[in-house]
Amino acid sequence: MTADGIKAAPASEIDIHTTAGKIAELERRLHEAEHAGSARAVEKQHAKGKMTARERLAAFLDEGSFVEFDELARHRSTSFGLDRDRPYGDGVVTGHGTVDGRPVAVFAQDFTVFGGSLGEVFGEKIVKVMDHALKTGCPMVGINDSGGARIQEGVVSLGLYAEIFKRNVHASGVIPQISLIMGPCAGGAVYSPALTDFVLMVQEKSHMFITGPDVIKTVTGEEVTFEELGGAHTHNSRSGVAHYEAADEEDCLVFARALLSYLPSNNMDEAPVFPADSALDPVPELDTLIPDSANQPYDMHTVVGHVLDDGEFLEVHAAFAPNILAGFGRVEGRSVGVVANQPMSFAGTLDIAASEKAARFVRTCDAFNIPVLTFVDVPGFLPGTDQEWNGIIRRGAKLLYAYAEATVPLVTVITRKAYGGAYDVMGSKHLGADVNLAWPTAQIAVMGAQGAVNILYRRELAAAEDPDAARAGFVAHYEDTLANPYLAAERGYVDAVIRPSETRSQVVRALRALRNKRASLPPKKHGNIPL
Ligand code: HXC
Repeated sequence: MTADGIKAAPASEIDIHTTAGKIAELERRLHEAEHAGSARAVEKQHAKGKMTARERLAAFLDEGSFVEFDELARHRSTSFGLDRDRPYGDGVVTGHGTVDGRPVAVFAQDFTVFGGSLGEVFGEKIVKVMDHALKTGCPMVGINDSGGARIQEGVVSLGLYAEIFKRNVHASGVIPQISLIMGPCAGGAVYSPALTDFVLMVQEKSHMFITGPDVIKTVTGEEVTFEELGGAHTHNSRSGVAHYEAADEEDCLVFARALLSYLPSNNMDEAPVFPADSALDPVPELDTLIPDSANQPYDMHTVVGHVLDDGEFLEVHAAFAPNILAGFGRVEGRSVGVVANQPMSFAGTLDIAASEKAARFVRTCDAFNIPVLTFVDVPGFLPGTDQEWNGIIRRGAKLLYAYAEATVPLVTVITRKAYGGAYDVMGSKHLGADVNLAWPTAQIAVMGAQGAVNILYRRELAAAEDPDAARAGFVAHYEDTLANPYLAAERGYVDAVIRPSETRSQVVRALRALRNKRASLPPKKHGNIPL
């Protein structure tokens, strides 16, 4: 690579028959590779508020750590005049570097060269760096900004896409894979990011869709803008394709670095451990968090914040299925994944989106040896034909499946409601959780008092002179006898009923005790999770 500011000599001035000339020729070629995109294309990129591929990698990786692969690779295509335009690098920058001193493999698609379109050599470069990541057990981070399959190269491009998809699948659960979408990502090309663990998008700058607005208009008559169809907000709030909506590219790169800090380099490794305060002081604020009325919401973020180190919670999928929270934090400096019902949204009910969001997250944690900490306040599954007809049965089953197959330490805290099937689903002892704690405010029962009274005392209520007074009496009796944590505690379904203020110290002790947990499932080719 040429040093900054050094202008390479033009080819005509270089005598390649001397050693000095040979070195000058190398410098010239590397300089050309670094400036493969035309000045006009770079200007256009900057005018859109986007960085170039190399600028992005420089901002993402530790300074001076980047080692490039295949900088001098060029396409071999001759069709459609491509033989007259053979830029070094072929439109993608690949290699490895470090993030916070830890190795990471990277590729950045370069929109300034052939619109970042993927041809044979471009694809081969990505395949090579993915193989490197898998072989060496380091995370693979891909920056996507591409017009898709290189049209001039035809089926060869499609073949390379499939080679990449295959590697995404083989690397799944072995090394963390993170996709940063920083420009167009359309057609079948979306399936590589879709197969990775985390997809981050940038507001207004990135778009993902299988078919674009024009095709949609032609086929269905619907009119939709790029942003509405496949922008960062859409995929973060509606489809759940993306896990983070970045305000700009810098924000996106910072989030990706933060994400990596919670993840191990591979499935045989542990996530980095940070120095942390091991004080176990109570948090009195939690003793007054739960309202006296069971119908009143509170923000589950408060609980999560008081349990994690420094209150730091890196939430993923924050705008998708907000009735459940998922994200990373640390307890005593060690990574944990947090899954928590959110009473502030749909009363914390489980629906299809929440089940799938949490299931995917639990599986991600389990694949990468990250303990799962679950906070439960769930009144049940969301009722409705929409949910039933869209498959809450098979899709809700994913969350059960994820908890039951997880072998990482599982710690569950029931803060309030844990009703019906949702009690079982949310990291219950019966599914395999290791330490289950309940607050005295917990209501662990088949259903809430109102519903139960309607069923159990239907005849009595119909015959009562004052049905309201009778109902109030039945509700009070039900709540006093059944809607509490003590029946579960009697049977050991919860290991302890704890004061809310001591939640962090109890979680700390549980995670310490579980640090060397070993568990395995019966040998099999793979499970058959309902999809
Ligand atoms: C070859 C491409 C290209 C492509 C863009 N370019 N996409 N070259 N193959 N797929 C070139 C353009 O010709 C142009 O070259 C340069 O990249 C920049 O493109 P512009 O159109 O000027 O940029 P912009 O106006 O920002 O528009 C971006 C765009 C548009 C929306 C992405 O380029 C576009 O619609 N491209 C085609 C998208 C597409 O249909 N791809 C195939 C999808 S199917 P010059 O020389 O003028 O600078 C697919 C299947 C994958 O990808 C299957 C996997 C299984």
